[in-house]
Amino acid sequence: MASTPLPPASSSVSGNTQVHIDLGDRSYDILIGGGLLQAASFAGLPKSSKALIVTNTRVGPLYTARLRAALAPHHKTVLDVELPDGEQYKDWPALNQIFTKLLEEAADRKTVLYALGGGVVGDMTGFAAACYMRGVPFVQVPTTLLSQVDSSVGGKTAINHPAGKNMIGAFYQPQRVICDLDTLDTLPQKELLAGLAEVIKYGPIADADFLSWLEANMDKLLARDRAALMHAIKRSCEIKAWVVGQDEKESGLRAILNFGHTFGHAIESGMGYGEWLHGEAVGCGMVMAADLSARLGLIDEATSLRIKALIERTGLPVKGPDLGADRYIELMQVDKKAEGGEIKFVVVGPLGQASTRTAPDAMVRDVIAAHTR
Ligand code: NAD
Ligand code: GLY
Repeated sequence: MASTPLPPASSSVSGNTQVHIDLGDRSYDILIGGGLLQAASFAGLPKSSKALIVTNTRVGPLYTARLRAALAPHHKTVLDVELPDGEQYKDWPALNQIFTKLLEEAADRKTVLYALGGGVVGDMTGFAAACYMRGVPFVQVPTTLLSQVDSSVGGKTAINHPAGKNMIGAFYQPQRVICDLDTLDTLPQKELLAGLAEVIKYGPIADADFLSWLEANMDKLLARDRAALMHAIKRSCEIKAWVVGQDEKESGLRAILNFGHTFGHAIESGMGYGEWLHGEAVGCGMVMAADLSARLGLIDEATSLRIKALIERTGLPVKGPDLGADRYIELMQVDKKAEGGEIKFVVVGPLGQASTRTAPDAMVRDVIAAHTR
């Protein structure tokens, strides 16, 4: 897929930083650093009398008060709504809780929504913002590593359907993304690892040097070294901004961000949402997609094993559940990249570049058999 060259990684990681995402009149900044839940981070955003913080029962008690204080100078009234916590609640009833709150409080079309939480809260708040009165502004305040490096950036919003992950949604860009690394202090290690899966993704698909950096710095990341986390988050956001800036609505290039997701989404929906963390399923899906890339002759086996070894080193699972090959294939046929029932896989080759393609049924079955138990 033709694209402009990826800008090199910026070397400095000291102090707070930002990444710009260039989308014409929908452009915005991603602020990355410590102590960002303060009034100055929210200056210059759309003005409104009312604001609504959308969070969940887990994150709300930790950070709503801090965000509310930061927003006080910017809005007369700051409301909040706490959704149930978990991927299994990324659904219509929870989404409707947001609309009910907005209508009960007579929120007008200038009301700004703030998504305070991980990818589930972010995706649902964005979708609610896209729909309420046909569109109100929203700001992403991601509090998981996964949401800071991926889901809060780029404007994909959605809820799940029992038959397919993220199948109901809209492209709708936030006004700003505020990644406060301090919020990661309360993040369970299992969730940090799930976020690392999406960080690792950016190496094979776009930046082989970043993959080498991750190999050299994985111990620091696992120990939550602040400078290492800053670099990983910034580089991930730079790569995502580079992709989304060229293909906002996924007519081509953006599909590479779904490396490992075709197999991963099948694991998530096949097991029932919430059983496997999204990042865990993506990590395992990348092992399968790397193997498929090798079987298609796009990378050598050693490169596929190198990707697997890095995922394994984080402690993420590298064997998927045994749903049966037929079930995997059935689930992958409802993937958004599928066309006319034909499954499109994101494959890597050479390392640092990715594309989408179909694969022979027998080869896909061999990959599933090799990486499930
Ligand atoms: P999540 O939102 O479920 O958060 C993980 C868990 O951590 C939850 O229990 C949450 O309450 C808790 N949590 C969040 N922040 C915390 C904090 N600071 N301290 C303590 N606990 C905290 O999951 P996630 O991994 O952030 O996001 C996964 C979701 O993101 C999936 O639904 C996936 O489909 C979506 N996603 C979307 C995109 C996109 O482009 N829109 C990209 C990748 C993933
Ligand atoms: N996480 C996939 C995308 O944003 O396109």
